[in-house]
Amino acid sequence: MLEILVLCTTLAQTIGKPATAEDIKRVDITVFADGKGLLPGKGTATQGLPIYKEKCAECHNEKGEGREAQYAALVGGVGTLASPKPVKTVGSYWPYATTVWDYINRAMPYEKPHTLTPDQVYAVTAVLLHWNGIISDTFELNEKTLPQVKMPNRDGFIPDARPNQKLKR
Ligand code: HEC
Repeated sequence: MLEILVLCTTLAQTIGKPATAEDIKRVDITVFADGKGLLPGKGTATQGLPIYKEKCAECHNEKGEGREAQYAALVGGVGTLASPKPVKTVGSYWPYATTVWDYINRAMPYEKPHTLTPDQVYAVTAVLLHWNGIISDTFELNEKTLPQVKMPNRDGFIPDARPNQKLKR
């Protein structure tokens, strides 16, 4: 009974109230393509390898090759996008390294998102970029160097030339 009362009180305190600066800060974690929003930190592929093995390999496999259709391959596929069998990975498809950081920071590990420190996110991002042949295993990723990394498919996207349509409500 007491628990129900506590739950109701907590809900009543949060629902229907404007979000506080603190509430917004918790979910306002977007990192933009140019690196705006990146948290300070650093990591290399060498530092990231044990973290990858512990927290990522069970799903994405030992070298990022993925497991069956269920778990995405994170490595390889460069040059296949225009072929009949495109292989979309972080290396072949993603245009910005900053987006890789943002995605891992907000969504991975799949079952325990938001458990990695900024340094760990830099380090596992470095592992994926290294395995894709984009950086060396000692290259330090941080909030300054990460936005400067050029991904192989950076220029593979074209703006949609169709005009914007006004929404009718
Ligand atoms: C329990 C399984 C699991 C673990 C552990 C896991 N992932 Fe994932 N990961 C997934 C699944 C499933 C997806 C696809 C999610 C989707 O499409 O919504 C994914 C997608 C991704 C993607 C995007 C791939 C793409 O091209 O769309 C990246 C990058 C990634 N994971 C990195 C990581 C890293 C780094 C770790 C370790 C810190 C990790 N994952 C741990 C299951 C996992």
